[in-house]
Amino acid sequence: MQNPFINLPTKSDSDISSLETSKEDRVALQKAILEYSESFLESLEQTKAYEKSGYAAEAQDKLFEIDGGQYPLEEILPFLSERVDKPGINTASGGHLGYIPGGGIYESALGDYLAAAINKYAGVFFASPGAVRIENSLIQWTGKLVGYTGSFGGNLTSGGSIANLIAISTARQAKRIKSRDIENAVIYTTRQTHHSLLKAFKLCGLEECVLRVIAQDHQYRMITNKLEKQIEEDIRSGLKPFLIIANAGSTDVGAIDPLETLADIAKRYDTWLHVDAAYGGFFLLTDYGKRVMAGIERVDSVILDPHKALFLSYGSGIVLIKNIEHLAAANSYEANYMQDTKSHQDEYSPAELSPELSKHFRGLRMWLPLKLHGIAPFKSYLEEKLELANYLHQKLQDLSFEVGSKPQLSTVLFRFLPKHKNANEYNTELVKAIHADGRVFISSTTLDGNVYLRAAIVSFRTHKRHIDLLIQILHKHINS
Ligand SMILES: Cc1ncc(COP(=O)(O)O)c(C=O)c1O
Repeated sequence: MQNPFINLPTKSDSDISSLETSKEDRVALQKAILEYSESFLESLEQTKAYEKSGYAAEAQDKLFEIDGGQYPLEEILPFLSERVDKPGINTASGGHLGYIPGGGIYESALGDYLAAAINKYAGVFFASPGAVRIENSLIQWTGKLVGYTGSFGGNLTSGGSIANLIAISTARQAKRIKSRDIENAVIYTTRQTHHSLLKAFKLCGLEECVLRVIAQDHQYRMITNKLEKQIEEDIRSGLKPFLIIANAGSTDVGAIDPLETLADIAKRYDTWLHVDAAYGGFFLLTDYGKRVMAGIERVDSVILDPHKALFLSYGSGIVLIKNIEHLAAANSYEANYMQDTKSHQDEYSPAELSPELSKHFRGLRMWLPLKLHGIAPFKSYLEEKLELANYLHQKLQDLSFEVGSKPQLSTVLFRFLPKHKNANEYNTELVKAIHADGRVFISSTTLDGNVYLRAAIVSFRTHKRHIDLLIQILHKHINS
């Protein structure tokens, strides 16, 4: 048989060199891109936090499509500006108070740039002992912040959803929930549980477990004696209490469950206790945070999102497991073609502790800012956010808004009760009017059938002037 490769044309170097860039080209590209990002960052105080354009079909542009052609940066950057960076929520803006913002500190972008330009493979210690040491030292720092000691471990993920997924899959394996046990295994949540955990149950084959939604107090915290009563009832009915999900900063309202009591209950009934601290976790840098999250050091697993209250750009979550053996057992693998990597086992590798093999070296986007700034500025920025939330809470009362009790973290929930209109319709219209204005962005939620507006003060760029602007805009709308 004829060798099919024999007649392939041979490519010359000049044919295949176009993916290589010369130093001159690189410098020109960097200059244009840095000038572009500088002009974006420098104009943040003037640009809107929300821009309603960009959704209609007219905003389609042929540049979105990959058509095989070559385009110069002079054409690409204006396209990105108009079609990508401008429309929708300006998540880098200090006026972004919707969902859970963070802002994206510049040094995390530079960390990403370095990680991608050097393209170190950070999945296994053998391939990059330095990159893995950086990631492991971030896990150590975060674990100690939570109060873990001894043999804890964790993984840097792309965000809180994947961190929750890893924690739930670890809980299932550690508690030996086999297929035959699923119908009898019980998971305890509240209505404040983030939907990424419900997704994680589905992805981990736990959707058919018995799900108990435990009642909450007036601050949306799990009522622990109701939990305990339910657990006892479940045991009496022959069910197996398996997993308790708690919040340390729920998305809607920033609720923090009574972690100390929950840790006692989890111990008493031998259940896994998982804490979703995606939003609240880094407030442990403040004295207030340490006080309200006391007990977090006792839980079996916890997640934190550095792209929220550590202000990194999107793409950063952390899962921590109190006993690293459980995390390793849930993610262990064997692959013959990876056998060389086993020659250096001095440290755990991310690939042994998560579903990922090839991965972005995402530690650098967190390590670089922490090294350049130290910890102190993060603490003082978070203290500022807590103060701003209390300030807004007070100002809203002055404007006759209905507000709940004092914010537990940095999210404020409020609604206006008009005299002669339906409150839900009025507040839905109010949030639309704030979006149409666009100078600040807030989001809404529904609790117990009532529509509330919520301002989440988390971005490092949010300061008193942004809160004053929100108050001014609200004042104008309720008086128009
Ligand atoms: C409390 C909480 N848990 C989990 C998540 C999911 O995190 P991510 O969006 O990083 O996947 C969020 C996101 O807002 C959250 O607020």
